[in-house]
Amino acid sequence: MTVALVTGANRGIGREVARQLAEKDYDVIVSARDEDKAREAAEAVGGRPLALDVSDADSIERAAAQLTEDPGRLDVLVNNAGVGTDWGVSGTDPDFEAIQAALDTNFFGAFRLTVALLPLLRQSEHPRVVSVSSGMGGVAEMGGWSPGYRVSKAALNAMTRILSTELADEGVLVNSACPGFVATDMGNQFGAQKPVEDGAAGIVWLATLPDNGPTGGFFRDGEPVAF
Ligand SMILES: NC(=O)c1ccc[n+]([C@@H]2O[C@H](COP(=O)([O-])OP(=O)(O)OC[C@H]3O[C@@H](n4cnc5c(N)ncnc54)[C@H](OP(=O)(O)O)[C@@H]3O)[C@@H](O)[C@H]2O)c1
Repeated sequence: MTVALVTGANRGIGREVARQLAEKDYDVIVSARDEDKAREAAEAVGGRPLALDVSDADSIERAAAQLTEDPGRLDVLVNNAGVGTDWGVSGTDPDFEAIQAALDTNFFGAFRLTVALLPLLRQSEHPRVVSVSSGMGGVAEMGGWSPGYRVSKAALNAMTRILSTELADEGVLVNSACPGFVATDMGNQFGAQKPVEDGAAGIVWLATLPDNGPTGGFFRDGEPVAF
C-alpha cells in the first residue's frame, strides 16, 4: 500500500486531502498537533493518527522515528500545516515576532520535516513531496501587507526549488501548490468561496503524480502559477 503523511490534517484543506487520498486507497497518516484531534480526524477519514507539531523539532524527530518503525515506509508527504500570523499588517510597520511565528510553522516546520523524512521517502519507488503554499508567496506578483505569511510561503517555494533540483536524479517529485481562496477557518475570515474539495483536489493531483510528472513547479488547480 502507498503511504501518505498529511500535516495539519485535523481540519480544513489538510483533512480533505487526507480524505481524498484515503478514498484512493492510500494508507494515510492523519497528523495533527493535538493527539485527540488527530485520532478523531483519522477515524473520520479512514486513516491512522499521528501527533505532530511541525513547529517543534522534537515532535518532528519523534514522528520520524515512529514512522520509521511503523509503517516503515513513506511515499507521499503533504506539507499542509500553516498559519497566518500577521494578516493585514503593514510591511512598513512589521511585527517581527509574528513573522518569526509564520516562518517557524510554514517554512522551518515543512523544511525540517521533509529532511527528517527523506530517508524514508528515498526508499519509495514513487516519492512525492507537496507543499501547500499560497499565491501570496509568489514573488513575481507579490503585493503588500501580511509580510510574515508572504515571506514564509515564498521561502517554502524556495525549498521546493532547492529540493526538487537536488533530488531530481532520485525521482523524488517536489512541488508547491496554491489551493486557491478556500472556505476553511483560514479563508472564511476573508469571505472565501472555493469549496474545500476543490482546493484539495489540486494538492491530491500533485501527491499522486505519475513518474513522468512535473517537479520543481508551483501549481493551482493543476495549472502553473508564477513563483
Ligand atoms: N484557505 C485558503 O484560502 C488558503 C489559501 C492559500 C493557502 N492556504 C494554505 O493551505 C494550508 C491549509 O490551510 P486551511 O485553509 O486548511 O487552514 P486552517 O483551516 O486554518 O487549517 C490549518 C491547519 O494547520 C494546522 N497547524 C497549524 N500550525 C500547526 C503546527 N505547528 N503543527 C501542525 N499543524 C499545524 C492546524 O491545526 P490546529 O487545528 O491545531 O490549529 C490546522 O489543522 C495552509 O498552509 C494555508 O496557508 C490556504
